[in-house]
Formats: sequence, C-alpha cells, structure tokens
Amino acid sequence: MATIVELENVWVWRGKNLALKDVTLRIEEGKYIGLMGPNGGGKTTLLKTIAGLIKPDRGKVKISGPISRTIGYVPQEQRLDPDFPVTVYDVVEMGVHTGLGFFHTVSKSEREKIEYALRSVGIMDLASRRIGELSGGQKQRVFIARALASKPRLLLLDEPTTGVDTKARDEFYRLLNELMDEFSLTIVLASHDLEVVPSQVDEIVCINQSVFVHAPPEEIEGTDILKKAYGCEFEFMLHGRYPHRVIHRHDEASDG
Ligand SMILES: Nc1ncnc2c1ncn2[C@@H]1O[C@H](COP(=O)(O)OP(=O)(O)OP(=O)(O)O)[C@@H](O)[C@H]1O
Ligand SMILES: [Mg+2]
Repeated sequence: MATIVELENVWVWRGKNLALKDVTLRIEEGKYIGLMGPNGGGKTTLLKTIAGLIKPDRGKVKISGPISRTIGYVPQEQRLDPDFPVTVYDVVEMGVHTGLGFFHTVSKSEREKIEYALRSVGIMDLASRRIGELSGGQKQRVFIARALASKPRLLLLDEPTTGVDTKARDEFYRLLNELMDEFSLTIVLASHDLEVVPSQVDEIVCINQSVFVHAPPEEIEGTDILKKAYGCEFEFMLHGRYPHRVIHRHDEASDG
C-alpha cells in the first residue's frame, strides 16, 4: 500500500522537554490510525510535526505531496474568542486561503470548496451563524470543515471528542467513518478515548516520547503494552457496546 507520511528517526525538543525521541513511523494511505498515549506523551507534538508546524531537531518527515494540499489539521485548542464576530462560513473560508487574511474576495472555486466542506460535515444550514453561538459539537464540525476545505488526503485530529457528550461523540465517529468512505481519507486521531477508539481504527499507535506500539487493536487487546506505555493500569475491550467500523455506501451524488 502507498505511504502517505513517513517519519524517520525524528527527535523533537519543546523548550527543555524532549517530546519525541527517535520516532520512526510509516502511515499508509487510507488507514485510520488511533494515536494514544498519556498526557505529555507527545501526541500533539507528533501531529504538529506531521503538519509541518514543528520542525524536527533531528530526523526526517516525508509527506507524499505538498503539505497544503495533502494535510488538514484540526488542533487540540481552538483559540477563537467566542465574541469574535465571524460566521461559520468565515471560519471555513480560512481553510481555503490560509495566510491571506479572510477579508479578501472569494473566488468561485474557493466558494465551491467552502460549500463542499460545509456539506461534508452536514452544517450547510449553520453557514451564516456566528461561531460563538454554536454548541461544542457543532463547533467541532466547523473546525473539521475548515480542515477539509483544502480537500486534504490526510486528516489530523487532536483530541476532538474532549468535552463532547456521548451522543455527539458517537455521531462524530460516524461522521469520520462517512468521510473516510466518501473521500478515501487517511485519518490520524489523537485521543484518550479507550472506550471507543480501539473498535474504530485500523491501527493503534501508542506514544510516550517513543513509539511503544504500532499495531492493529486486535493484537494489543489483553496485552500489557498500553499499560507499559502509560505507566498505569490501562486496558480496552473490543467487544463492548461499540461495533467495529461499518463501511457505508453512498449511492447519492455527494452534492445532492
Ligand atoms: N510549548 C511548549 N513548550 C515547552 N514544552 C512543551 C510545549 N508544548 C508541549 N511541551 C512538552 O512536550 C511534551 C509533549 O507534549 P504534547 O503536547 O505533545 O503531549 P500530548 O501527548 O499531546 O499531551 P495531552 O494528552 O496532554 O494533550 C511534554 O513534556 C510537554 O510538557
Ligand atoms: Mg495534546
């Protein structure tokens, strides 16, 4: 299978802290990866390094394609003043022309990309709403739409279900499944959610400075690999309430 991202012996210091220690990792196109590990384990650092926002102190990051057209990144902290007078449309627009400031004229092709992204996550009806007026789960969709607006092949999500209720969380995982099937996306999802994530993903990467494990969830279940990485009791069950990822088929055109 084709490789979309490859890290080779990557070391990253953040200030005085060694965040990534000799990380070698290959991500194949079309895979759904659950990135797990304790607080401070380096998940955010790894995602930012893949997204090109942090330069490794040592080692190499290879992306198959130009970063701006390959990668969509949804950060852990969405720093947006709730009173800032921007609409959902404005925020998603930032995703199509990063760096230009958002009060420039939108071309027809940009408008199409924005609408594509809004439709993909099912928030077309919220387009003119102020971002500050939305619920946490709705806001999350907006930030995913912003990341999708550049039509990336790889979506990086940093703990997107934090602070979201169970129903919204389940909907969110369903949305990711749909996006993967519709757009053949590759997804790297950083999460502490051991309840659901292992049943959803193709592979788990567990990181605590170094990569402790990179394997399908079935191979990790019932072993003490995660326990070692987290340094505490940690287990997951694959046969709980959450079924494995279901492949949805879409017969309608995506612009319907
Ligand atoms: N801006 C920063 N300056 C200095 N050190 C930092 C900075 N950001 C992170 N670190 C350190 O780098 C290491 C990795 O942090 P990182 O944010 O990547 O962890 P994480 O796995 O995303 O944690 P969490 O689960 O809490 O989000 C930690 O030791 C952290 O203290
Ligand atoms: Mg983090």
